[in-house]
Amino acid sequence: MSAPENYGFDLDGFISRERFEKMREFLRDKETPCLLLDLKAVEKNYDELVRTMPYAKIHYAIKANPHEKLLKMLVDKGCNFDFASVPELDMIMRLGATPDRLSYGHTIKKSEHIAYAYDKGIRLFATDSEDDLKRIAKNAPGSKVFFRLFMECSGADWSLSRKFGAHPDTIFQLIQMSKDLDVVPWGLSFHVGSQQRDIGQWGSAIASCRYLFDSAKELGITLKMINLGGGFPAPYTQPTAPLEMYTKEVTRFLVEDFPDGMPEIITEPGRSLVGNCGILVSQVVLKSKKDTYNPHSWLYIDAGKFGGLYETIDESIKYPIYSEKTGPTGEYIIAGPTCDSMDILYENTKYVLPENLEEGDRLYFLSTGAYVNSCSLESFNGFKPPKVYIYDED
Ligand SMILES: Cc1ncc(COP(=O)(O)O)c(C=O)c1O
Repeated sequence: MSAPENYGFDLDGFISRERFEKMREFLRDKETPCLLLDLKAVEKNYDELVRTMPYAKIHYAIKANPHEKLLKMLVDKGCNFDFASVPELDMIMRLGATPDRLSYGHTIKKSEHIAYAYDKGIRLFATDSEDDLKRIAKNAPGSKVFFRLFMECSGADWSLSRKFGAHPDTIFQLIQMSKDLDVVPWGLSFHVGSQQRDIGQWGSAIASCRYLFDSAKELGITLKMINLGGGFPAPYTQPTAPLEMYTKEVTRFLVEDFPDGMPEIITEPGRSLVGNCGILVSQVVLKSKKDTYNPHSWLYIDAGKFGGLYETIDESIKYPIYSEKTGPTGEYIIAGPTCDSMDILYENTKYVLPENLEEGDRLYFLSTGAYVNSCSLESFNGFKPPKVYIYDED
């Protein structure tokens, strides 16, 4: 057989055996499915980003993981935040973040939500359309706006293209339009796609920013900020370059394109800050074979697409899965517990796991800190989302 994309994973490269054992002990009597969030791991990621991009203001993308304890820890560490909705805004302000540390980074928003944010003191808004720009001018007069560029997102495991951003000529028109509106054209933003493997994508995006900075100058407007978005990776089954390589290259692109001094730089990490801080624990519900000659077994587990493993859509994000059992292995198709056939996690990608798995055995999905608890349905089909626990030990 040619080397297939088969994953059943050891802990190596994801978490130390010692730390994993402590967490496993903590989780031993917890009902599944459940999710453990390791706050120390988030802190470590945050500190590394500050160390490797000391010039950047970090605006954590709340959507990646809005757990209150995690947010509070980041508030206390001095992090800034990007919010996308009124509930996110209310929560982060309740936890102590002042409006000057917040940006309204969503480009699709109702007038009343803009007005609400303005009333709370928010003065930094993203935009990518004429209507939205006019709404900001009307409902948040005098605010700073940054214009989001359209990105192709090739090279990303989780694309954010099509729905967001506008092409440079449209952005130029919006910048021009803003001269006659009660807003301050402040900067540009982009998102190269989440879990982006190709570092060069930041290079072309920053070059587009340079071009638009120059074009804006011709209109008499000096743009002052670039928001680099998210896109830095978390560790999943397919290895990526280390964070430090990303930040080093991005810094080089910025220095080369802005030799007379960088503008203000914002970065909006989500996945790279919290991805590796989660362990989702699931149990085997049922193992079955659909026909005698098929080498693959189906493994139905008690966590699925509607209960947090939503990014398995199109098998985009391939989580490392650790089994406590050992022995001969087999190839599995893995599916969730609900009555919907959409709820198949991995079918093209076969996971190699012990053959002797049976009802009740635990499977540990590593790197489930991002877009898991934030993407769980409350109770589809009566199945509850994973209960979340916090691990805050050294
Ligand atoms: C505007 C914006 N910024 C930042 C992020 C975080 O991106 P990532 O998780 O790839 O770091 C997202 C993710 O959807 C986003 O939409």
